[in-house]
Amino acid sequence: MMQKTIRVGIVGAGMMGRTHTEALRRIPGITVAALADSNAALAQSTCEELAIPAWYGSYQEMLKHEELDAVHVCTPNFAHFEVCKAAMESGAHVYCEKPLGNTAQETARLCGLAQAHQVLAAVNFNYRHNAVIQDMRERLAAGDWGRTFLIHGQYIQDWMMYDADYNWRCVPDLGGPSRTIADIGSHWFDTVQFITGQKIVRVFASLMTVLPQRKKYAAQAATFQKQTGDAFQLVDIATEDAAFIMVQLADGVMGNLVLSQVSGGYKNGFSVSIDGSRYSMSWHQEAPDRLMIGDRERGTICIQAAPDTLRGQGARYASLPAGHVSGWNDALCNAIRSFYDELRGNANDRFARFSDGDYIVRIVDACLASSRSGTWEDVK
Ligand SMILES: NC(=O)c1ccc[n+]([C@@H]2O[C@H](COP(=O)([O-])OP(=O)(O)OC[C@H]3O[C@@H](n4cnc5c(N)ncnc54)[C@H](O)[C@@H]3O)[C@@H](O)[C@H]2O)c1
Repeated sequence: MMQKTIRVGIVGAGMMGRTHTEALRRIPGITVAALADSNAALAQSTCEELAIPAWYGSYQEMLKHEELDAVHVCTPNFAHFEVCKAAMESGAHVYCEKPLGNTAQETARLCGLAQAHQVLAAVNFNYRHNAVIQDMRERLAAGDWGRTFLIHGQYIQDWMMYDADYNWRCVPDLGGPSRTIADIGSHWFDTVQFITGQKIVRVFASLMTVLPQRKKYAAQAATFQKQTGDAFQLVDIATEDAAFIMVQLADGVMGNLVLSQVSGGYKNGFSVSIDGSRYSMSWHQEAPDRLMIGDRERGTICIQAAPDTLRGQGARYASLPAGHVSGWNDALCNAIRSFYDELRGNANDRFARFSDGDYIVRIVDACLASSRSGTWEDVK
């Protein structure tokens, strides 16, 4: 029997609004019915370019005029709370970008609202939906690598390396009290928790603001775009460019993480290594279809993602033969697909829910608290 087409509205026409639209269009039975952006001209041009039937200059107007089954929230962080709230109150299911909110008060309220309105509510932690990450989780659960000794990794980029790099993420009222940890550390935390099945319960963090002032231009650049020219004002920066963070999982295992958005040449350098008593396994986002197995006797073995090399959900996600690299866009599509699978009645434990997003915000808060206190802080 043909299923009813699910009508989706997108809020935010920036980098993520576009990638969500493309991902949604790879999933049968879903239509992107409308898009809203507070920049009405951008909403209109994006809808014309991407052939989205209806555009709006505000999400309130979109919710008022469209019959939507689900809303994807792809705005800057400060608007996540208000857009999620309004969408849920309209009866729509919600798929929100990370971080879920700027404060734990906001994210706790959003969890309560999702329950009260009986809607499905997800946060876009997309990296856990890479086929190799799924396989790492299967290997760890199967216990075939022994006991976990330690975890280490990094998430380093260079797109905020110049003082001319300035956008909403630099403004605490818009991006939140944390910049780099909330923006990219959140992904690392979620991925490690997903692979291990363990919560991060304690952190020790040291934060760095290496560019205490940045140039704010009259017209702000979109994500990952460069700014040039002489028409700027110097703005004091209160949020971190980089951080060193130690974490402890609920089972006592320790991990270590380097975060930076100011490290030249590193583009989207997310990596994680989980070192066990039989071998280590590591994954690097920029070689997204490769699982590296570190073996003391044989050195490093590279497993290329394919249906016959990975296990469980990993094998299903790696739908193409080895060498046909599946990467960032595929993981995003897998993430969104798992949400709509559940909406259609196939409950699954793959995508991150609001409760997961709420917990990640609490980890970020603990990092800020640790940086202030100079000691380990519990995640509360
Ligand atoms: N999951 C990931 O890998 C990933 C990657 C990048 C960004 N993100 C997240 O996605 C979100 C959006 O980031 P981006 O890089 O696309 O930002 P962006 O700056 O490129 O785009 C944001 C868009 O939202 C619009 N907007 C702002 N306030 C609005 C409001 N109140 N109502 C409607 N539209 C509004 C802006 O005009 C802009 O077009 C952020 O929360 C960010 O953390 C996630």
